[in-house]
Amino acid sequence: MNTIAVIGTGYVGLVTGAWFAELGNTVICVDIIEEKIARLREGEMPFFEPGLAELVIRNTEAARLRFTTDYTKAVPDAGFVFITVDTPPGPNGKADMSRVESASRSIAQHLKGHTVIINKSTMPMGSGDFVARTLEMNAPPDVTFAVVSNPEFLREGAAVRDVMEPDRVVLGGMDTEAVNAVAGLYATMEVPIVRTDLQTAELIKYASNAMLATRISFINEIAAICDVFGADVRVVAEGMGYDPRIGPLFLSAGIGFGGSCFPKDVKALAHMAKENNLHPQLLNSVLEINQYQRYRFVAKVEKYVGDLRGKRIGVWGLAFKQDTDDMREAPSIEIIESLMDRGAQVRAYDPEANVTAQRAIRDLVTVLDPYEAVKGADALLLLTPWNEFKQADMARVCEAMRTPVLLDGRNLYDREQMRALGFTYRGIGY
Ligand code: UDX
Repeated sequence: MNTIAVIGTGYVGLVTGAWFAELGNTVICVDIIEEKIARLREGEMPFFEPGLAELVIRNTEAARLRFTTDYTKAVPDAGFVFITVDTPPGPNGKADMSRVESASRSIAQHLKGHTVIINKSTMPMGSGDFVARTLEMNAPPDVTFAVVSNPEFLREGAAVRDVMEPDRVVLGGMDTEAVNAVAGLYATMEVPIVRTDLQTAELIKYASNAMLATRISFINEIAAICDVFGADVRVVAEGMGYDPRIGPLFLSAGIGFGGSCFPKDVKALAHMAKENNLHPQLLNSVLEINQYQRYRFVAKVEKYVGDLRGKRIGVWGLAFKQDTDDMREAPSIEIIESLMDRGAQVRAYDPEANVTAQRAIRDLVTVLDPYEAVKGADALLLLTPWNEFKQADMARVCEAMRTPVLLDGRNLYDREQMRALGFTYRGIGY
């Protein structure tokens, strides 16, 4: 089995590291944040992700998975070093490569013998060469290495399943031996492998996320048209989805996409196009529609509640999607801030994201019980489609509200059922 170092213990790093350990490799994860590493050693996860704690604890106990802040304990013995640090958006959406650069420098200083360095984070085109140059400038003269791009496609909330059963593995690099060696890490998994050059591999990741984001903005634009004509966007999507050229997935209208990937990656791709004198009209529109979706929702709240000053608004769901506590770029942030700016008193509940949301939204009031959030409310806004909300006692909710207005930002509920209970119900294009 192989010895693998993983640099960065965010979503991608931790899940990848734990999974390669599960496959029988010896994995050591490195992070510069001491507290995070100390907690991981105790089996405490830095974020909520279904199934991850079990995977990490099982492999830590089997001594296949370890955590350190010390590169000397991880890199010299590793045959493979995965770079999984984040590339946050800088000015103009350009990906900030400073963490990749400093990780590459630290890796270089600790290389021994021959090592394959794998870029797993989403990195702009040209990053493979950038990492190779940084390694070259900082590595001792007697070592050799090759850089392979192997972008990760996992989704938060489904990360463990995605890493266990990927749709494809993309490997980019000109060193065939290194690419084959990385392919060997996936040998026990039944998965198509796409082999290509570095730049193409890097672009596959951006293009995939941009395509998915485009589908969401597309269906959200259709939803706005549905609202005007009284059509049902859910059935429009269903009817479209039977065409195999279109397919049924990723056509749920809502308050728009958030998270750590789609907004950042679409902006970064648009920026790369613009920097090279292209005019990325479609990507710009995808972002614009996504932004507009939040304004449209706030306008809908005003339409149904009237002047928001002093009005009580209950909010169910804060995280950018269900099964995560992640608030990065969550549509709830702008929606709630706009409502509060207009004088509304917001009381919010999320099964997992109350704490992370308080850090993201100034003066946010959260409650620990969903029914508490709706007591005496003038409207309930459903912003994240958690299963818990689907199964809630909606008759009790209707009863507890001052005016039973239900504005469903994710089309989670059945319109007729909600109306029968006494709600004034509006979904998105539904
Ligand atoms: C995404 C990609 O799916 C994943 O492949 C990539 O590696 C990282 O980015 P993630 O950000 O975890 O994953 O979430 P995802 O489940 O894709 O949802 C992204 C956003 O789009 C969420 O805010 C979600 O609510 C929204 N969404 C998704 C819709 O509004 N409609 C849909 O039909 C699907």
